[in-house]
Order: sequence, then structure tokens, then C-alpha cells
Amino acid sequence: MKELAGKTAFVTGAASGIGLGIATALAQAGVKVMMCDIEKDALDKALSDLKQTNADVDGVIADVSLKDQLQAAADATIERFGKVHILVNNAGVGGAGGYGQWNDAAWDWTIGVNLMSVVWGIEIFGPLIESHGEGGQIVSTASMAGLVAAVAPAYNATKYGVVAVSEGLRPELAARGIGMSVLCPGFIRTKIMESARNLPGRYADKIDVDAAAAQASESEFAKTATDLINKGIDPLYVGELVREAIEGDWPYIFTDTQFEPGVDARFAMIKEGFDRIRDRTPRH
Ligand SMILES: NC(=O)c1ccc[n+]([C@@H]2O[C@H](COP(=O)([O-])OP(=O)(O)OC[C@H]3O[C@@H](n4cnc5c(N)ncnc54)[C@H](O)[C@@H]3O)[C@@H](O)[C@H]2O)c1
Repeated sequence: MKELAGKTAFVTGAASGIGLGIATALAQAGVKVMMCDIEKDALDKALSDLKQTNADVDGVIADVSLKDQLQAAADATIERFGKVHILVNNAGVGGAGGYGQWNDAAWDWTIGVNLMSVVWGIEIFGPLIESHGEGGQIVSTASMAGLVAAVAPAYNATKYGVVAVSEGLRPELAARGIGMSVLCPGFIRTKIMESARNLPGRYADKIDVDAAAAQASESEFAKTATDLINKGIDPLYVGELVREAIEGDWPYIFTDTQFEPGVDARFAMIKEGFDRIRDRTPRH
């Protein structure tokens, strides 16, 4: 999408962190933005700050892990702005813990917020973008953990899923005038390590967030990750990259090269798997 001014975007997880950075960068380019989030106070503050810059933004509360709430947020976007051109599937949570710590409810929460919201976002907003014939872009936030399995299994699985859905649909949606980008951030300065603040009420008696936090505070991995995130990249810089990526229809949006050796190492291991059987003839 070469011309962003005057277009409309719907951004999930827009009240803080990367989503707020993306909403801000798009609004600065003259895009009208419907900001969607589960966290009311943070969304109210983000909206009031952005409105002071004369940005044309509005907000809608939704738990994106519930399809009917996402549908209602899409209806509110059309009612408010008439059309939508850009979907940013960004809401996400750290979610279920590691081996020996997770339970089914924690996997459900992680899959719902990180992966099903992306599937439903595409299902609901794709036809809305197609309907006006002006084209559009769908950006979904995965992670470097969507290319290298470096975090907890549920987080990795959902982020690999977001990469797979984005890559897989890119050719088909291109033919329908919609570009597909997947954002794979490195360490960004956000509140992702405090994701349990947004645990939907229906999981309250099924996931013990205090026990999970206590376990995490003991873990070297969590301490290191928190430290790296606290010193991480500015979310507004990520938003500006996303804006450029929408203009240029980038398939992959990376924020830095820190994990490039990890991706190389993974691909080398995959290649070794092929090398091991290269000279054999498969039996049919
Ligand atoms: N911060 C990082 O280093 C990093 C790295 C890679 C990927 N990511 C991804 O970036 C995305 C944004 O996370 P962030 O780092 O800005 O964290 P964040 O916690 O600051 O922001 C996440 C936003 O999503 C919202 N949210 C959570 N659950 C929701 C739900 N059920 N419905 C609607 N909104 C919900 C939160 O209220 C919050 O505003 C996530 O998908 C995350 O996995 C972050």
C-alpha cells in the first residue's frame, strides 16, 4: 500500500507496547486507527494521549480470544470509519509455562490470544478489506520465537503458527489485493512479561498466575528475558518499521539481527536431516 494517508487500520493489543507503537506510527502517517484491547484503563490513556496529537483514533474493548468479541469489534470499526484497509493482529501473551508447569487452561489461553485471534482476524477482516477493492495489508505479530523455538512451548507453538498462517496465505491473499506480513520482533521494551495482568476471567480459577509468577521469578531464563526486554528496542521504532513494511508489502518484518545466527543454526540442522538420507532410495 503506497498511500497510507486517509486509510483505516484495526490494531489489536493497541493499548500498550508494540501495538501502541504501531497505532502511533500509523496515526502519524494520517491513518485512521481503531485501537482494540482488553485492558480498559491502558486503552483510555493511549487514546487520550493520541487524540492530543490530532490523530483520528478510536477504541474498542475486546478479548480477541473470543470470536464473537472480535466480530463485534470489527462491526464497531465499520460503523465508526466505514471501511478498513489494514489489519494488525498484534495482541499476545507469554502464556503457559514450561515443562511441568503448564496445564490445559494455560495452553487454551495462549492458543486463543496468540493464534486463534489471528485466524479469526483474517477470517473476519479479509472479506471487509476485499469488499472495497482498494486493497490492504494484514500484519500479524509473531516473534523470533516463531522461527527459533527459544521460549516456552506454548508460546513457540503459537508463534510458529502465526508465521505458518502468514506465509501460507500470502500468495492466495495477494491475488485478492491483500498483502501479508509477519512481524518477528526481537527484544522490545514492553509489558509482555506481565501478560498475566490480562488473564481473562474465565481462566481465573484454572490458572494460578501467582504460582506461575513465583516459579518464573526463580527461573534464570525469565530473569534474563525480563532484563533484555527492559533494555529492549523502542516500540515506536517497531511501529515505524511496520509502517514502512505496509508501504512495501514486506513478507517478513524483523526488528534487528540478534537472532539471525539462531535461524541459520536451525536451518543448518534441518539441512543436516536431508544430508543424512540424501543417498538413500525411499521404499514405496
Ligand atoms: N516484547 C517483546 O520483546 C516481544 C518479542 C516478540 C514478540 N512479541 C509479541 O508482540 C505482541 C505485543 O506484545 P508486547 O510485547 O507489546 O506486550 P504488551 O503486554 O505490552 O502488549 C500486549 C497487548 O495485548 C493486549 N492483550 C492481551 N491479551 C489480550 C486479549 N485477550 N484481547 C485483547 N488484547 C489483549 C494487552 O492488554 C496489551 O495491550 C505480542 O503478540 C507478543 O507476543 C513481543
